[in-house]
Amino acid sequence: MGKRAVVTAGTGGIGLETALGLAAIGYAVTVVGRNAERGARAVERIDAVATGPEARFVAADLASLGAVRALADRFAEEGRLDVLVNNVGAMFADRQQTVDGIEASFAVNHLSPYLLTELLLEPLRAGGPGRIVSVTSGSVRVAKRSFDAVEPPGGYYGFHWYGRAKLANLAYTLDLAERLRGTGISVFAADPGGAATEMTDGTMRSPKIVSPGLRLLWPLVRRTFERATSGSASVAARPSILAAADASLDGRTGLVIGPEARPVTPFAPAADPRTVKAVLRLSRQLAPLRLPV
Ligand SMILES: NC(=O)c1ccc[n+]([C@@H]2O[C@H](COP(=O)([O-])OP(=O)(O)OC[C@H]3O[C@@H](n4cnc5c(N)ncnc54)[C@H](OP(=O)(O)O)[C@@H]3O)[C@@H](O)[C@H]2O)c1
Repeated sequence: MGKRAVVTAGTGGIGLETALGLAAIGYAVTVVGRNAERGARAVERIDAVATGPEARFVAADLASLGAVRALADRFAEEGRLDVLVNNVGAMFADRQQTVDGIEASFAVNHLSPYLLTELLLEPLRAGGPGRIVSVTSGSVRVAKRSFDAVEPPGGYYGFHWYGRAKLANLAYTLDLAERLRGTGISVFAADPGGAATEMTDGTMRSPKIVSPGLRLLWPLVRRTFERATSGSASVAARPSILAAADASLDGRTGLVIGPEARPVTPFAPAADPRTVKAVLRLSRQLAPLRLPV
C-alpha cells in the first residue's frame, strides 16, 4: 500500500503544488478544500502526475472546528496516515468571526491545524515514521506577541493578526516536535517564502491589512509585498514537499524549512516558553480535544 498524505487547502495555490509534488513521488494524496468542483479539477491534475495511487478530494471548511473534528474522525477511521501537511491559511481584510464565534485569522491559521493535528496523532503513529508539516510565514515577524486572549489588544489589522496566528501555530509546532520526540512522528514547519496566489493577490492589495503607521507608507509596503509574493506556487511548495517526504530529514524533527528548501534558524520568539504556554492554554480552551458530553 502506498504512503498516505493529507494536504489541507490542497486544491489551489501552494497546497495544490504540494499535493502534486507528493503524488509525483508515489504518495496517495488526499486534498481538502471547500469547493467540490475545484476539488475535482485538482484531483484530475494530481492524477495526471501521480506515480502511485489515485488522489481524492474531501470537502471541509477548515474555518469550522466541527468540520475539523468530522474530518479527523473520518481520517482516523481509515487507519494509518503517513503525512499531514497543515497548509490551510488565510488573511482577512476585515475582522471576521467563524461559525464557532472565534476570530477567523486565529481559527483558520492556528486552531484548525492545531485541532486536526492533535486528533490525528494516533493514525500518524500507526503508520511508522509519520510526519507533520505546518506551513508558516515570514509574517510571524510583525506579530503582536500577546496570547492571553484570542484577540490581541488594539485595532484589527489583517496582516498583523494573520502573522500573530501563524506565530501561535509555529510556537505550537516547535513545542509539539519536542513533545513527540522519540515517538516516530517528526514535526516540521515549512516557510514557503512568497507566491502569487489567491491569498496574496486578493487581501494583500488592501492598505487596511496593515497598522496605521505602515498605511502612511502604503505604496512602499505594497511594493514590498508584491516583490515578496511574486514567485510561483510550485517553488513555494518545495519546503513543504521536502519537510513531508525527503529522506534527508529521516529521524530529524523540530526544524523550520525555509523558502530555499533548507533548514533555517527558527524565529526565536516562537520558542519563548511564555508564548508557548499561553498558546497551548488558549488552544486547549478554544478547541478542547474532548468535547463535554
Ligand atoms: N502565498 C504566499 O505568499 C504565502 C506566504 C507565506 C505563507 N503562506 C501560507 O501558505 C499556505 C498556502 O497559502 P496560499 O497562498 O497557497 O493560499 P490560497 O491560494 O488562498 O489557498 C487556496 C487553497 O485554500 C483552500 N481554502 C481556503 N480557505 C479554506 C477553508 N476555510 N477550508 C478549506 N480550504 C480552504 C482553497 O480551497 P477552497 O476555496 O475550495 O476552499 C484552496 O485549496 C497558507 O498557510 C499561507 O498562510 C503563503
